[in-house]
Amino acid sequence: MSTKSNFKSLTQDKFIQNPYSTDDNSAFFSQWRQDQKEWHDSNEKFESFWRVQAERLLHWKSKWHTVFAEKENHKFNWFSGGKLNVSYNCLDRHLHDKSDKLAVICESEDGTVEKVTYRQLHQQVVRFSNVLKNLGITSEDVVSVYMPMSLELVIVMLACARLGAMHNVIFPGFSAESIRDRLNDCSSKIIVTADGTWRKGKVLPLKNIVDKSLVGNKSVENVIIWDRGLVSYRKNLNDLDWHQLMQKVCLEENIRFWDSEHPLFLLYTSGSTGKPKGLVHTSAGYLLGATLSSRYIFDLHPDDIYWCTADIGWITGHSYVVYGPLSNGSTIFLYEGAPSFPKPGRFWNMIEKHKISKFYTAPTAIRMFMSEGVKIPHSYDLSSLKILGSVGEPINPDVWLWFFHHIGQKRCPVVDTWWQTETGSIMISPLPFEKTLKPGSASKPLPGLICDIVDEKGNTKGTNTEGFLVVRKPWPSMARTIYNNHDRFVEQYWQKIPGVYFTGDGAKRDEDGFYWLLGRVDDVLNVSGHRLSTMEMESALVSYPSVVEAAVVGRPDDITGEAIFCFVVIDKIGCTADDLVSSLKQHVRKKIGAIAVPKDICIVEQLPKTRSGKIMRRLLRDHACGRSFSGDLSTIEDRAVLKSLQKSKTLDLRV
Ligand code: PRX
Repeated sequence: MSTKSNFKSLTQDKFIQNPYSTDDNSAFFSQWRQDQKEWHDSNEKFESFWRVQAERLLHWKSKWHTVFAEKENHKFNWFSGGKLNVSYNCLDRHLHDKSDKLAVICESEDGTVEKVTYRQLHQQVVRFSNVLKNLGITSEDVVSVYMPMSLELVIVMLACARLGAMHNVIFPGFSAESIRDRLNDCSSKIIVTADGTWRKGKVLPLKNIVDKSLVGNKSVENVIIWDRGLVSYRKNLNDLDWHQLMQKVCLEENIRFWDSEHPLFLLYTSGSTGKPKGLVHTSAGYLLGATLSSRYIFDLHPDDIYWCTADIGWITGHSYVVYGPLSNGSTIFLYEGAPSFPKPGRFWNMIEKHKISKFYTAPTAIRMFMSEGVKIPHSYDLSSLKILGSVGEPINPDVWLWFFHHIGQKRCPVVDTWWQTETGSIMISPLPFEKTLKPGSASKPLPGLICDIVDEKGNTKGTNTEGFLVVRKPWPSMARTIYNNHDRFVEQYWQKIPGVYFTGDGAKRDEDGFYWLLGRVDDVLNVSGHRLSTMEMESALVSYPSVVEAAVVGRPDDITGEAIFCFVVIDKIGCTADDLVSSLKQHVRKKIGAIAVPKDICIVEQLPKTRSGKIMRRLLRDHACGRSFSGDLSTIEDRAVLKSLQKSKTLDLRV
């Protein structure tokens, strides 16, 4: 494990004044930060913080008796003895005063806009939970979902939560094979999909992809299709039509309340092995983290129109498109489609049109907007914006400042939020009221969270020294396990560094206590804020007939942050190198999905290895980044490999 990451070191800019801060609101948060110092040493004070938040922010059917307990083998329980329903918290509890308030505004790439109130959303969710119930889905089942960014996707998730069935949302960029792996791993009985989804003016045929994923699958009994009339698809015996099911079903229900630790969803993410892991989040703790963080980081108010651009298929979409804002009774905006389609300015047009006030997006998107020039955002009215957020990757100070100046018009603070699928909710972020902000730094851990930067033994690192980012105390929204693989969960997160949660990220803390994120320290790449395992990509590459060996590394990219660079050793090639490269790209697209398609493929004679046979990735990384080979070369098995690596571009590929 090395703390050296692939990222350019971020410059530590000076503080800038936060235009959103007033004396009143900043005093409240200074007190919070002050209190936080005491939580580290006092379990009582730490638990009392979470007790108060759970009482204030959630609706409980029956109250818990124990705030936190850790059982044997890293089994964590928050709010034991309590009962609640996550869907009730996101819907029913708002009906007495917000039933006519807009809950969701959706816009599709083709310009269609749909709006629903909390009352309408509630009715649809009740109906769909009855649909699932009538199909025999119980609180023991997993409902898989492969759907567009849409109101219907929100309905499915909240209906599952209502019924106590876990949802497993799969990002629509994943291939049939990736869906199959996930369906098999969680033995899902049902999958909900749509005929298609918009992407850059074309329709991605989701149902056809699902059909392919079901070849050889034994668990799925039914496929529910939300047919939007976008694209034709084959009708199979076990297919069910969304509209017919919803029409036939009744609106009545007897809502059940679930234990605090009842599983809410599982979400697959890449780790440092070839197999994606299904992280399991449970009800009360997860909802508390999502509710608390969205309320304070985005300072949610009743008149806000809140837009988080993440796809719901990722954790950001779960926590900050759906659960966090709806639990707070906010109006959420959803967009189905590509950012600059049909032309640059689409996002700014939607902000102007829908009067978006809180806007949460990813550095990759911001870098893309920067490349389009400032004239475009300047020609729209962005005066409704109040707070801007960033997530998924380190945001360089210059990108932060561009966002602040040209989108926030020096009025809106930028909150750079660090967190992970595993953490469930934001862990490190500025609060929007703080007097000063530091462009490029995610600031400090949020109240109730005790983070640190340590060495391999868990000792705290000094100021401005790189180390591993860890969390010292459990927190309510943390993932509880990996589906069907608790041992991997313990080994991966709780045993790497004694006594703490290991994040897999490198970071440093400056003299003001601000955290600077430096990228992953394991074999995980972050491309456009999407997590990809190098091993998963390598196994996809070697499954191609003529590839004997493969190694994948990341290299910096101006737009996507990191780009995928593959080295392949081939046994024979019956076509040109260009053809091979394009068929390999196609192959990875088929195996994993469009998000994993490599940017560069380099055909080499051999990979550099140590005498014990380990691939020396740091040398490959040097080559991918155009640097000369650095560091200790004494362990390399055959130095001649480096020469051939340097010549690799001129290799004669025809055999
Ligand atoms: O490396 C960190 C990076 O994204 C990883 C988590 O990826 P995922 O589970 O897919 O969740 C992404 C959205 C929460 C982290 O381990 N990351 C996330 N946010 C930031 C970040 N890196 C730097 N700065 C951030 N704000």
